[in-house]
Amino acid sequence: MAEVSLTGVTKRFGGATALDDLSLTVGDGELVVLLGPTGAGKTTALRVVAGLERPEAGTVSIGGRPVTDVPPAGRDVAFVFQQFSLYPHLTVYDNLAFPLRSPMRREPEAAIRLRVERIAALLRIDHKLGNRATRLSGGEMQRVAIGRALVRRPAVYLMDEPLSALDAKLRSELRLELKRIKDEMGATILYVTHDQIEAMTLATRIGVLDRGRLVQVGTPREVYERPCSVHVAARLGTPAINLIPAGVLPAPAAPPGTHTIGARTEHLRLGAAGPNGRPALIHRVEHLGDQSHLHVEVGGHTLVVLADAHAPLKAGDRVVVELTDPVCFDADGVRIDVPPGPAAAAAAMMGSMRP
Ligand SMILES: Nc1ncnc2c1ncn2[C@@H]1O[C@H](COP(=O)(O)OP(=O)(O)O)[C@@H](O)[C@H]1O
Ligand SMILES: [Mg+2]
Repeated sequence: MAEVSLTGVTKRFGGATALDDLSLTVGDGELVVLLGPTGAGKTTALRVVAGLERPEAGTVSIGGRPVTDVPPAGRDVAFVFQQFSLYPHLTVYDNLAFPLRSPMRREPEAAIRLRVERIAALLRIDHKLGNRATRLSGGEMQRVAIGRALVRRPAVYLMDEPLSALDAKLRSELRLELKRIKDEMGATILYVTHDQIEAMTLATRIGVLDRGRLVQVGTPREVYERPCSVHVAARLGTPAINLIPAGVLPAPAAPPGTHTIGARTEHLRLGAAGPNGRPALIHRVEHLGDQSHLHVEVGGHTLVVLADAHAPLKAGDRVVVELTDPVCFDADGVRIDVPPGPAAAAAAMMGSMRP
């Protein structure tokens, strides 16, 4: 596999800018997820890497080789499209073998069989190899579509929301399997999706795309815990991060200039009345089985708070809510670093004192 780099890529369609000065590197063996809503430029980014679109500015390189002027066939990429299509008259086996039988590649049939069987086993469709493609469930069809990319060993795999057409259960199943396959194959993958859970679970690094601009790149943890802006904070996490004006909840650690506070459900806790608590009224209790979400009102703002599934709470109850870990934003919505608290500072000092 190989590293893929986009440098200063801008792509316009008429007056609309689909990609705006996009620079991103997917390291060898890395799975980078571009996360953004519909229209953010995700498909365009993949098409630029594949050579299906020519950018107005910027360069693309694969494995250190500049490919901006290389046609798609010379780029050695495999693309899994959002709208997958199989050859309906062919068996699963022949659908998977198809990319290996192209006249340009011409591999011996025995080698093709080994490869197809390995990929089918990896995708758990090995018992369906003799089936017609039309005689498959939606989830199986999508496995075959992914398998058709995986049978090849290209420099890079490009995946365009490959799971978005599936129902929730299949999506979570295939998500786990893609992660396992990626780890087993050590493949370089640029994967785009609007689904933050896919981004969080699959990515080595996430790139957050907003109207063609890359606004933050980092590991899933970094982007979740240290979002660069209100916009990014709101894109990751279910339920969505609570965004409240500074002052609604006590946040002693909030630095000067804090305008908005981001409070993730898990960073709000029900406490006893005290200097850091605020009285709240429960509007609604959502029982999710393993935990509950309380929709509470504090100072005229509605917040979602995580609570123990067995807590005997109901709508109309009064509780006290305390914020443990604020994410702070200035008036422009840009995150401001919260200075380390006394505990963290002491720990850092202990660390530096170690021989
Ligand atoms: N072939 C095209 N012609 C005109 N506009 C396009 C074309 N492809 C994409 N766009 C526009 O570029 C923007 C990004 O599109 P796209 O890359 O498909 O976004 P995403 O995949 O994130 O939904 C959108 O505003 C879209 O309308
Ligand atoms: Mg798209």
